[in-house]
Amino acid sequence: MNTTKSHDLFRYLAPIYDTVARIASFGRYDSMRRSLVAQAGIMSGDRVLDLATGTGYLSEILDGCEIVGADISLHMVNQARKKTDASFVLSDAHALPFASNSFDAAVCSFALHEISDPKVAISEMFRVVKPGGTVAVMDVVLQSTPIKKVLLFAYHLFIEMLTANYMHPDDLADSFKHAKGVTSNAKMAGLVAQVSGVKK
Ligand SMILES: C[S@@+](CC[C@H](N)C(=O)[O-])C[C@H]1O[C@@H](n2cnc3c(N)ncnc32)[C@H](O)[C@@H]1O
Repeated sequence: MNTTKSHDLFRYLAPIYDTVARIASFGRYDSMRRSLVAQAGIMSGDRVLDLATGTGYLSEILDGCEIVGADISLHMVNQARKKTDASFVLSDAHALPFASNSFDAAVCSFALHEISDPKVAISEMFRVVKPGGTVAVMDVVLQSTPIKKVLLFAYHLFIEMLTANYMHPDDLADSFKHAKGVTSNAKMAGLVAQVSGVKK
């Protein structure tokens, strides 16, 4: 199974990822990720999974929590390890090497478009979170209006270099079937969906 469509890209992107991602976010790199953390309701002392952690930004901002960053790219994980002493685990989002019900929350930012089967990845996030824990994801998603389709195409061409595979918002909502309460927001010119749900 091809588990990540652009694994090789991250080999070269890893050293400059933080700079590129900040430019691509139009100055909203920090605020969007902090918004996801706020929506996840993470509290001090929580054990939190940051799926597809990349260079480990969340482990830098979540003081007082036990953060486990999981990612398939050794190059991205090595960058993360330079920044913090949080735990980073090389793993595939489709089959996480963690026990069921072992995290208080699981988050995933700007990575579902990289993962071959994002629905499976979200199911895995629900599996490893305890009942009552929160799963929260944010990513660029498919758009329905002409203006947003054009914006998405520009983003896809110039930022993702035509490698991304965006979810349809309905599919994203469907993947929260394990949740009892679901909250969703649209951000960043409407290209980004942020969805969270509490595990039943
Ligand atoms: C665009 S980066 C996002 C990093 C970070 N979450 C952020 O908000 O900046 C996408 C990350 O997803 C990871 N990734 C792609 N496919 C994956 C998979 N199947 N399992 C785990 N991580 C994966 C990549 O290695 C990369 O680090």
